[in-house]
Amino acid sequence: MKIQIINGPNLNLLGVREPGVYGSASFEVYLETLKNRYPEIEFAYYQSNVEGEIINKIQETGFSFDGILLNAGAYTHTSVAIHDAIKAIKTPVIEVHISNVHAREEFRHQSLIARACKGVIAGFGLDSYRLAVEAIKG
Ligand code: DQA
Repeated sequence: MKIQIINGPNLNLLGVREPGVYGSASFEVYLETLKNRYPEIEFAYYQSNVEGEIINKIQETGFSFDGILLNAGAYTHTSVAIHDAIKAIKTPVIEVHISNVHAREEFRHQSLIARACKGVIAGFGLDSYRLAVEAIKG
């Protein structure tokens, strides 16, 4: 089984960025624990701060991978183009958030991508990604 993880803008700063909200671990370190926990799964990881590059990665992996875990960061709340990219592919996409976006500012309560996704997992810290792996595994 092949799972693509895509992290959007500012998520390259995990561990440094607002640790009270996003925790103090870097994603690279967390990814190693995920790989160790699921040795049978092949994980690919991609991070970009650029909307079009995220769309390119969704298109590139969206016909061959078994699942995509997408934390689109702030583009979650703004991007019709990412919504359309998810609709255009075959691979199921799980929308992932580290923080509970519904317990935060009102502008984070709306997701433009959720309706194109298989489901949404938010609010469990980095463990949200593991829960999304479980969702793909079924
Ligand atoms: C986030 C929540 C978004 O609202 C925010 O813009 C992010 C991170 C999360 O993982 O909690 O960049 O997607």
